[in-house]
Amino acid sequence: MPRNKVILPPKTIGIIGGGQLGRMMAIAARHMGYKLAVIDPTPNCPTAQVADEQIVAAYDDRNAIEQLTSISDVVTYEFENVDLPAAQYIAEQGKLPQGSKALEITQNREKEKQQMQEAGLLVPAFSIITNADECEKALENMEFPAVIKTCRGGYDGKGQRKLSTEADKPAAIDFAARHGHCIIEQWVPFDKEISVIFTRAVTGEITFFPIAENVHKDHILYQTTAPAAINEHVYNKAIEAASKLAENIGIVGTFAIEMSVKDEDIFLNEMAPRPHNSGHYTIEGCNISQFGQHIRAICGLPLTPIKLVQSAAMVNILGEDMAHALTEMSTLKAGSFHLYGKAAVKAKRKMGHVTFTADTVEEVSQLLKKYRGQRDD
Ligand SMILES: Nc1ncnc2c1ncn2[C@@H]1O[C@H](COP(=O)(O)OP(=O)(O)O)[C@@H](O)[C@H]1O
Ligand SMILES: [Mg+2]
Repeated sequence: MPRNKVILPPKTIGIIGGGQLGRMMAIAARHMGYKLAVIDPTPNCPTAQVADEQIVAAYDDRNAIEQLTSISDVVTYEFENVDLPAAQYIAEQGKLPQGSKALEITQNREKEKQQMQEAGLLVPAFSIITNADECEKALENMEFPAVIKTCRGGYDGKGQRKLSTEADKPAAIDFAARHGHCIIEQWVPFDKEISVIFTRAVTGEITFFPIAENVHKDHILYQTTAPAAINEHVYNKAIEAASKLAENIGIVGTFAIEMSVKDEDIFLNEMAPRPHNSGHYTIEGCNISQFGQHIRAICGLPLTPIKLVQSAAMVNILGEDMAHALTEMSTLKAGSFHLYGKAAVKAKRKMGHVTFTADTVEEVSQLLKKYRGQRDD
């Protein structure tokens, strides 16, 4: 069994990436008494506002990574697109308990799907292509609707295009010509989307958060409710799939797997080697959040057994929702508002989120409706 290196406060945790996920990790770590350092190119980024020190530099700036490693006792990341040689360097210094394998797999949709298939799990039918000609050929055998996605760098629906009918073939070929390495997936006519979020320790100990149910709009997460309304059979299948991947990849820290449910089947979508937007509800909904448990895992502390304290619903506050959210914040008694401190408000940019909790999912849905100004019907 791998050795558990224990890091205690007031030691320093270094975070690569200074967005909202880093910020919420840092807030959890701050509560526990750790010091924080962050690397991000934007001065006073969301994480820097709650950290002790910011190194203003690009994520793949080797000097900056070496500096972060030397001032930190342990290093983590808030996104999957960490430069692999940089991650390997930090691991060699004995300061990256998460290792680099999970990054290597999750930053490439081809490797991600391979990993799922090797684990014997169900994924949508797909083809990997590297240019326009291969795309044209692959589309001959593909049923519509389908979706084409870049193998690297996509997030929040960026870097993908839905192909509704054969009429979208030229657009797909054009997409492939522009982006090169892509995956074309058959569209899953799912009943619902769920995410399994768990935290695994270096020792192999694993804890699962309650499975959450997600609604996306324009391929961006719109809302999450927990616990998900799924039967025991589907629940067990989802946990089994996640356990298998966690073991095979040797995951450490908080990790999320997006899945879709069709009848009694689950199709695996994508994985994130970090806390996830659909796990924000855990801050108020559970006895420990996905961020707090992540800090425990990377610092070698025993993991807290997870309990759902209340049903929860989380809705993102995008740039275009800011004015509405602030009005609601000034009038609603319910709702935990989280604003990330991003300087520029832009459409589709995640500026914050709000979580409602209550005894039942029905009650939180009512609170959500009220927040959105929808009538009770
Ligand atoms: N093969 C598919 N079938 C059905 N829906 C899909 C498929 N691929 C993506 N989607 C929809 O688009 C959303 C975003 O796609 P995803 O692959 O998770 O990319 P991102 O990295 O942008 O989150 C999914 O949550 C789902 O709602
Ligand atoms: Mg996704």
